[in-house]
Amino acid sequence: MERSHQVATRESSSRDDAEKAQGANRLVIQVENATKIFQTPDQGRMIALERITLNVPYGEFVTVVGPSGCGKSTLLKLIAGLTPLSGGRILYQGSEVRGLNTKVGYVPQESKLFPWLTLEENVAFGLDSKRYSKQQREHQLRHFINLAGLTGFEKYYPAQLSGGMGKRASIIRALAYEPPVILMDEPFGPLDAQTRMVLQDELLKIWEQQRQTIIFVTHDLVEAVALADRVVVITHRPGRVKDVIQVPMQRPRNIFEIHRQEGFDEAYGRLWNIFRNELNIRNNSNG
Ligand SMILES: Nc1ncnc2c1ncn2[C@@H]1O[C@H](COP(=O)(O)OP(=O)(O)OP(=O)(O)O)[C@@H](O)[C@H]1O
Ligand SMILES: [Mg+2]
Repeated sequence: MERSHQVATRESSSRDDAEKAQGANRLVIQVENATKIFQTPDQGRMIALERITLNVPYGEFVTVVGPSGCGKSTLLKLIAGLTPLSGGRILYQGSEVRGLNTKVGYVPQESKLFPWLTLEENVAFGLDSKRYSKQQREHQLRHFINLAGLTGFEKYYPAQLSGGMGKRASIIRALAYEPPVILMDEPFGPLDAQTRMVLQDELLKIWEQQRQTIIFVTHDLVEAVALADRVVVITHRPGRVKDVIQVPMQRPRNIFEIHRQEGFDEAYGRLWNIFRNELNIRNNSNG
């Protein structure tokens, strides 16, 4: 397994400390030795995540991959403060997360729009009147609905939208109030390949404009590489960080021809190697 290590010799430890402090300031999320243990139906204990450590700087696009049941959704829920840790700690902008962190946007795996609200009412849901004037609210709505290619559908109810349009709307609902961090749990999972690509492209365009931090769970390795600055690989139960892959591909990226972009093959190859080991698949073999 390859891993890139940066080794530097430095003259003074005080400069080291200063750099460390500056480095910590750049981090919006710090997951330190996070462990999550669930109770099983027969009153046993199941370690879902074990000593996960992950530092995410502002503006980074991180994808998280791993086999089904390895704890990806659990990790996002821990970061959002939706469920308590069994060990370790999670910091958000330097402060420990205790209870629900409303400052992070969260698009759950089964994200749904509110069926009784129109598309624009759904998107406006997080834009509460204390923080946004009527005018700002209007502006944000138009801006994000336009970015997601949904202009003209503002008054539609979710049942009148296609699956992909609904997904887009649920994503901009999380983006519109501009949280510094957005957690997305397999947001494009149930969509067909073409719609997925269109949405990946739109998400990258939005992200390139807004530069929020995104932690994005997927089980699609191509998607993981195509979107990310870094891919975090979680192992089968108990979930641990198996490896972290840097994706030094240029931006903006062309999602539709991502295979041709320099750096894709190498990053994908490394990721697949890790998975192949994990799944115990031999090279050029079907059995
Ligand atoms: N509330 C809960 N109570 C008990 N066990 C849970 C709970 N939530 C999740 N688990 C268990 O934790 C493990 C990790 O679940 P999680 O949903 O995080 O996996 P995942 O990696 O997101 O899987 P998938 O790719 O299928 O979405 C699973 O074994 C699951 O059964
Ligand atoms: Mg999940």
